[in-house]
Amino acid sequence: MIRALLFDMDGVLADSEDISIEIGIEYFESIGVKASAEDFAPYQGIGERIFFDGPAHDLNAENYRYEDASLFFRRRYPEIIKGRSIALPGTEFVRRARKAGLLTAVSSSAPSWKVSANIEGIGLNLSDFDSIASGEDIRRNKPEKDIYTLSMIRLGVGEEEAVVFEDSRGGIESGKKAGCRVVSMLTTISREEAERAGADSVIENLGAIPDFQDGDALENILFGGRCDCLRYGVNMIRRKGHYPSEKIVIEAARKARENGYAPYSGFRVGAAIVSASSGRIYSGCNVENSSYGATICAERNAITTAVTAEGKIGIECLVVYSDDDPPAPPCALCLQVIAEFARPETEVILVTPRTIRRYNFSQLLPMPFIFPTMR
Ligand code: THU
Repeated sequence: MIRALLFDMDGVLADSEDISIEIGIEYFESIGVKASAEDFAPYQGIGERIFFDGPAHDLNAENYRYEDASLFFRRRYPEIIKGRSIALPGTEFVRRARKAGLLTAVSSSAPSWKVSANIEGIGLNLSDFDSIASGEDIRRNKPEKDIYTLSMIRLGVGEEEAVVFEDSRGGIESGKKAGCRVVSMLTTISREEAERAGADSVIENLGAIPDFQDGDALENILFGGRCDCLRYGVNMIRRKGHYPSEKIVIEAARKARENGYAPYSGFRVGAAIVSASSGRIYSGCNVENSSYGATICAERNAITTAVTAEGKIGIECLVVYSDDDPPAPPCALCLQVIAEFARPETEVILVTPRTIRRYNFSQLLPMPFIFPTMR
């Protein structure tokens, strides 16, 4: 599920290229050199130093000093963008995302003064973002992963929960190296280039994203058919894809049964589930109690152990191991708890030392109760 959105600045939220060129021309004019937009074209988007050094060399600008140009730029930039709109279509998306409960971050390799000026220039506030990381915060620039990794650490989210919005090859590579899914805008590169660089999804601009209620809905919009996310009970879960063999899961349930605490019924049960997002196995046994009704079944113990370890889970497969034929199915209480985390297709395997029976969850509980707002 998507929990956080990490935005590059130039070409995603803001378009400041024309302004940069304008200031460049002004600077060269101030030292008596006539420059035009074409002089800057080969040196755009690859850092400030080359943006000035390149044309200065080509135009034989004798009085040029990079330090002067940089200062000039820093002074002029905030003045110029004040009266202009540098917002790309759809910057409101940031606020919509926030309203839908998502975390937002800027991860730009530009200097922090420029990032702040741009945020203001696109009509947003610094407080519209939960984290703002700029070039000074990292040593290795894009295409290295550092700025995105830093943003995720600041937000406290994992790479599978974060989506990067980029518009350049190096930016896309940076997001992919950080382990995130990357959505590329088509502001600066073509669809083919974006896909070749590893973009998981391509959109015209942020304005093309329709309204959504939460991270699950956005997940569907952005990654739709291509995302390996499935609904498990009430939750969207990103599937791992490779799972342990049935034999190994059965062995885990058999082993769990050995610890079954059943001094009253004498009926020990073991259960093992496979988590859809991690492929890990979690097991549990039944734990009875002097007050019989306080007894906890093996299946629910396995599930609560999995949730304790991973948070929200999807149940890819469940094995119940008992010692009486025909093999015991989960009780109705457990079925209801399983329904919270299982798909209708989730495999439920009932095992004894003599018998194996395979079912789909929907055969055991065709009509689970799901809370209305979670359906
Ligand atoms: N039991 C389970 O562990 N799972 C089920 O789904 C059915 C029942 C346990 C609970 C109790 O300790 C014993 O079996 C007898 O009811």
